Amino acid sequence: MERTFIMLKPDAVQRGLVGEIISHFEKKGLKLAGMKLIQVNRTLAEAHYAEHQGKGFFEPTVMYIMSSPVVAMVWQGKNVVVLARELMGATNPANANPGSIRGKYGMDISRNIIHGSDSVTSAEREISLYFKSEELIDYPKAGDEWLS
Ligand code: PPS
Repeated sequence: MERTFIMLKPDAVQRGLVGEIISHFEKKGLKLAGMKLIQVNRTLAEAHYAEHQGKGFFEPTVMYIMSSPVVAMVWQGKNVVVLARELMGATNPANANPGSIRGKYGMDISRNIIHGSDSVTSAEREISLYFKSEELIDYPKAGDEWLS
């Protein structure tokens, strides 16, 4: 079963949007496999955004992600990486579909509410950065027959 890593960034937590955003994923029909509130440290933040090291937005992005707790989650379902990115909308909220999470709640690319893996390979890397395998739970859930 495909899995993706989703992070509700500091602005989502500070603005009290956690429940509302999670609702988008639940109502879509996806299945939650893991979730925790964590304070990201510099080592984790730099590992997360390692591919952007050297770019102008790297340090501000690392500082932003460390500025307040985040909600780290793993969601699963058929084609979940692509589906989650559709739910989130474009990276820059200014270009995001108005019905998407970033389109509804975001204004600025440097405070864009939510992160989601951009491929199955990235998802595996990011999930392993944030979760131990025993923190992820596979369980029967109503609707499983529509997810696989
Ligand atoms: S890019 O342009 O292809 O390198 O961008 P992308 O891989 O989609 O994601 C870059 C992440 O850095 C965050 N960020 C910015 N990106 C581009 N420009 C600026 N100025 C910028 N500031 C911050 C952006 O939100 C992406 O974070 P995630 O967590 O992946 O959404």
